[in-house]
Amino acid sequence: MFRIFIILSCTVSVLSFSSVTLAADSILQKTVLNKPATITLKKPPEILAKWYKPANKRQVWLHTMFRLRREILAMNDYSAKSQQAGLEKWSQKFIKDYQSIAEMVPQWEEFLYLDKLTELENAVKSKQYSSISTILKKISKSCMHCHDDYQTVATLMFRSPDFNNKIISEGFSGEKISYDDIMVQLSDSVNRINIAIKDGYYSDANELIEPLEQQLEHLSTSCGDCHQEDEVPVKRIMDASNELLPELAEQLELKEQRKSGGKLGEFAVKVCAKCHSIHRLSSDLKFVFDQ
Ligand code: HEC
Ligand code: HEC
Ligand code: HEC
Repeated sequence: MFRIFIILSCTVSVLSFSSVTLAADSILQKTVLNKPATITLKKPPEILAKWYKPANKRQVWLHTMFRLRREILAMNDYSAKSQQAGLEKWSQKFIKDYQSIAEMVPQWEEFLYLDKLTELENAVKSKQYSSISTILKKISKSCMHCHDDYQTVATLMFRSPDFNNKIISEGFSGEKISYDDIMVQLSDSVNRINIAIKDGYYSDANELIEPLEQQLEHLSTSCGDCHQEDEVPVKRIMDASNELLPELAEQLELKEQRKSGGKLGEFAVKVCAKCHSIHRLSSDLKFVFDQ
């Protein structure tokens, strides 16, 4: 209690009376202000995995969610048009799907407003069209409460590609290597070229291009594991590399320091960063949750 009081009073003083109280409170304020902000994310109950691949044949949980949103829209639209048959049909579907949340994940029953379902059923039966949207708005609060806590983490855990245990097994040398290791190789290659350009060792830089190409080719043999149906993003990245590395070599032969640096930078953006913006970001976050 005492601690909380101090923190609160400090925050208030910083906000409103900073000029007056700064001197006296400076040590305390420093301690409080330097404290890094903590973001808390909650992990969903383990049983949720049962409703996703690979434990399940389908993404059952996600599809239940899509249906819930569709059912709410249908009920709102049909009640606005006073269409009883449509309203009855979609409200029955909704009630079943909403109840199934607690059947799939019993720990999450506490989020649900199950009593509101009776209210909804009665309003539908007695054709109180004007009250439907109000009831649905109330029920939708339960959706938001759970989503605030769990949606992002669940998407990461169950639907984002996993690179943390991924081994690249085929490729140029036939050697087995982890994603972590090949990333370190790629990063070292790019940095060595960068250092050589900065220090004017153009032919050294030029000789480093081939190993970089080979590492990237080795990496690209792993993309097909997941990109069989959509090869476009992989092709875009590899095409950029096939175009930019020869251009880099050309500038190095001309000993054009600034243009060489520019080409290497462009390569890092169009090849490395394009992939990182989707795959590294989600992979790093996912790694935290899978601990
Ligand atoms: C699949 C597309 C992809 C491409 C293309 C790619 N990376 Fe990565 N990179 C990843 C993923 C996924 C991670 C995080 C997983 C890991 O650390 O193993 C990562 C992590 C890294 C890391 C951090 C490694 C660590 O141990 O923390 C570095 C450094 C890196 N990449 C450099 C590069 C460079 C340089 C290039 C371009 C030459 C590149 N990457 C191209 C996907 C890619
Ligand atoms: C007890 C928890 C919980 C409740 C209650 C809940 N959801 Fe969800 N919902 C989730 C989780 C977890 C996800 C993330 C699923 C994923 O990304 O695979 C999600 C995702 C969704 C999505 C997918 C969003 C997107 O575009 O990816 C929709 C739509 C959705 N919920 C609708 C609803 C509606 C409508 C309700 C209320 C009638 C509801 N949910 C109630 C947990 C819940
Ligand atoms: C473990 C599976 C997996 C591997 C391996 C993988 N990807 Fe992906 N990639 C996906 C999925 C799934 C998506 C769709 C977005 C999502 O769900 O994260 C995607 C999306 C992308 C995107 C963004 C989509 C777009 O249209 O721009 C890029 C770029 C990409 N991948 C590049 C690569 C490259 C390059 C490699 C190999 C070096 C690779 N990926 C390897 C699963 C994978």
